[in-house]
Amino acid sequence: MTNILKEFSLSGRVALVTGASEGLGRGIALALAQAGADIVACGRRSDALADTVSQIAAFGRRGEVCTADLTRLHEIERVKAFVVERFERLDILVNSAGYAVTKPAWEMSEEDWDKTIEIGFKGLFFCCQILGGIMRRQGYGKIINLGSTIGRATVSGRAVYGGVKAGILHLSESLAVEWASDGIRVNVLAPTAVATPSRAQLLQGEFLERMVSRIPLGRIAEPHDVGVAALYLASPASDFVTGHTLYVDGGLIAHG
Ligand SMILES: NC(=O)c1ccc[n+]([C@@H]2O[C@H](COP(=O)([O-])OP(=O)(O)OC[C@H]3O[C@@H](n4cnc5c(N)ncnc54)[C@H](OP(=O)(O)O)[C@@H]3O)[C@@H](O)[C@H]2O)c1
Repeated sequence: MTNILKEFSLSGRVALVTGASEGLGRGIALALAQAGADIVACGRRSDALADTVSQIAAFGRRGEVCTADLTRLHEIERVKAFVVERFERLDILVNSAGYAVTKPAWEMSEEDWDKTIEIGFKGLFFCCQILGGIMRRQGYGKIINLGSTIGRATVSGRAVYGGVKAGILHLSESLAVEWASDGIRVNVLAPTAVATPSRAQLLQGEFLERMVSRIPLGRIAEPHDVGVAALYLASPASDFVTGHTLYVDGGLIAHG
């Protein structure tokens, strides 16, 4: 009989995590490293990425910092060359880098729009396309795109961000279908609110109470909730799952 827990092992796998300098990206990178993966930690801030990598080393895994502005295609190409040079393969890509502004739609500026779309949608797509090219050559890979419950259930002040997240859901379904014959699985991990550094200020007082009142399990998500769900989508345990959105939301979407 096979050991079912082996299906969750990432031993010998290489994962690239964008947005690994803080928040959910860092938490996911650490979760995958604990399960045995070597990690390329990607973002713009080298100090913060180095901090993530030193935590990865504590799990006995290899971590490499690769700084890049992922809104620029030539920088993503450089990341690809880095991965090929250092690891020669890429099994898992987690697109966690993002940007969110909370503002009434009437007040959204062109700059707010560009910043949200550029990293959240354009950067994410070209990371899938360019870094997915390594997976295509291998005939195997797992892409996890960070969506959000806000892509399905609206939150006031998040119209453009929610639009991006809804777009990621559809984009990921399309890629899952197009790339299945290349052995590439594409799924969305869609948490509800998590008090990451970029959200800590917002998730307080009345706003937090309103969020929690919509969540049947009675709390917002913790980075750990997201890390273990990412492990499932990254591991061989989910090899027959593609084009799926996994909500980590304490029942928010079901509640409606
Ligand atoms: N926190 C939540 O409540 C929540 C809930 C649902 C979904 N999500 C999604 O989960 C993901 C992570 O969320 P988060 O709250 O941890 O962080 P976030 O504030 O959404 O994203 C911050 C990360 O993105 C990276 N980043 C931003 N622009 C970049 C660029 N141009 N090039 C490269 N990296 C860039 C930052 O790294 P540098 O500054 O080092 O470049 C940082 O590591 C996002 O996709 C978010 O939309 C978050």
